[in-house]
Amino acid sequence: MPPRGVLRYIAVCVGSIFLLSLLAMLHRVHDREKVTKKSGKSTLREDALSDDLAVQSAFNVSDFDEDQEESLMTNQNVSLYDPFDETVTSEGLLVTKIPKQPPWTLNMTEVAMAKKGLRKYFNVVKRISLTKKDVQPGTIMHFDQSPENYVFSISPMLYDLLPERSPLQGMHHRKCAVIGNSGILLDSGCGNEIDKADFVFRCNFAPTKGYERDVGTKTNFTTFNGSILQYRFKYLATEKDRRKFLRFVQALGDAIFWMPVFTYHTNAIPARILTDFFWENRNKTNVKLAWLGNALKWINGYWRVKHQFKAYRLTSGVFMYTVAQAICDEIHLYGFYPFQEDEEGHPIPYHYYEPKEVNQTYSRVHKMDAENLVLRSLHTKGVLKLTTRKCDPQGSWDIDNYEKVAPFPYRIPPKIRTNL
Ligand SMILES: *[C@@H]1O[C@H](CO)[C@@H](O)[C@H](O)[C@H]1NC(C)=O
Ligand SMILES: *[C@@H]1O[C@H](CO)[C@@H](O)[C@H](O)[C@H]1NC(C)=O
Ligand SMILES: *[C@@H]1O[C@H](CO)[C@@H](O)[C@H](O)[C@H]1NC(C)=O
Ligand SMILES: *[C@@H]1O[C@H](CO)[C@@H](O)[C@H](O)[C@H]1NC(C)=O
Ligand SMILES: *[C@@H]1O[C@H](CO)[C@@H](O)[C@H](O)[C@H]1NC(C)=O
Ligand SMILES: *[C@@H]1O[C@H](CO)[C@@H](O)[C@H](O)[C@H]1NC(C)=O
Ligand SMILES: *[C@@H]1O[C@H](CO)[C@@H](O)[C@H](O)[C@H]1NC(C)=O
Repeated sequence: MPPRGVLRYIAVCVGSIFLLSLLAMLHRVHDREKVTKKSGKSTLREDALSDDLAVQSAFNVSDFDEDQEESLMTNQNVSLYDPFDETVTSEGLLVTKIPKQPPWTLNMTEVAMAKKGLRKYFNVVKRISLTKKDVQPGTIMHFDQSPENYVFSISPMLYDLLPERSPLQGMHHRKCAVIGNSGILLDSGCGNEIDKADFVFRCNFAPTKGYERDVGTKTNFTTFNGSILQYRFKYLATEKDRRKFLRFVQALGDAIFWMPVFTYHTNAIPARILTDFFWENRNKTNVKLAWLGNALKWINGYWRVKHQFKAYRLTSGVFMYTVAQAICDEIHLYGFYPFQEDEEGHPIPYHYYEPKEVNQTYSRVHKMDAENLVLRSLHTKGVLKLTTRKCDPQGSWDIDNYEKVAPFPYRIPPKIRTNL
């Protein structure tokens, strides 16, 4: 018989081994669970990452699929109206005012989707201006909405004035304001909020002088048209008109000065006058000239297919909003209000800078009310903010708060993450 002590020793050893292996087994199971949990977690993390990448690539200005844009070329049916010619007017609109707007918040997921949607149809950055790469001196151009027999030859001077590359190349801004010219802006006090934007779009050379409190002072992009040249600057026929125009252009600093030349053949004469003027004064102004080529099919196609919106022509304001969508994150629209009364039923002028023109008829070629419907739905989604009332004098931009929780390149907070 072995002594009791030895037996006890063996029992303790066996017990310990049993306990140890039990512990080891438990540990292994635990480890396996840990592994399973870990791999589960990493799958989740990858999903989140791919969402983020999709969002971030939507903000990538250099990334564009040319083939997608080409698909819009087919099945075009453009009408023979100049989308930028205001002379075709008609009886006016029936709608007088819009329903009150609910409070607004920026939705970055929607913004990313809107950017992706736009990119699928239309390379805004590339199409915004002809460049030296697109044409040569002597290239014969046609007009988007005039018959084929109307032509325009690129002169050596015009060629010289064309930019080397798109003036929007590589541009990305957080806060952009697009200023429409509705009389709703009068007494709005929106100037401060507008001037907080990084980039401000204006339409048709609208004045800011004397209206700073309501429309702000900044201008970084302005559209121009032949009727302004004719009515406000008498086709630059006299020295006085040339000096006056030069002062206006110099006041724009280094803003982009955008001319939709190749939309309609009646723009040929203003285009030649502007070419002469800008060539003659090429060392006296800092504006960046942008000459829209034949791009209406792209933008009209985008609005027709993406927003089921078809008009003889889009307003310059909606064109500018579309440009902003390509290069900006938070977009506020001011003065986009094609109605004859404000929300309280007071009559408002057509343009803020023509305060007496209360009963001016609204152009029917523009379908401004239908356009406004699309803009309002984008407002509701948080893609853009339509301001149709007085502004808070402090003037706030949502993205300043958003960036505190999700700095650029934007990470979509988990609770609003969706499949893009
Ligand atoms: C943006 O696009 C360019 C060109 O396609 C690509 O090289 C780059 O990696 C993209 N960046 C991001 C953040 O997606
Ligand atoms: C273009 O539109 C007009 C009017 O809507 C129509 O009559 C015509 O058949 C269309 N042409 C083509 C080629 O689709
Ligand atoms: C051209 O600008 C003038 C002056 O602002 C404006 O009244 C007119 O509607 C504009 N025309 C076009 C075609 O945009
Ligand atoms: C933002 O838009 C997405 C996609 O439409 C939606 O799922 C989400 O609820 C929105 N977020 C907020 C805060 O409204
Ligand atoms: C926008 O224009 C203002 C002057 O109107 C200028 O101070 C500012 O630097 C411009 N911003 C950009 C991004 O060009
Ligand atoms: C304008 O400036 C360029 C160089 O910046 C110079 O070569 C040219 O002679 C100048 N033209 C005029 C008209 O002053
Ligand atoms: C505008 O039209 C309304 C009704 O049609 C009329 O009562 C008002 O006097 C007009 N205002 C001006 C300034 O012509």
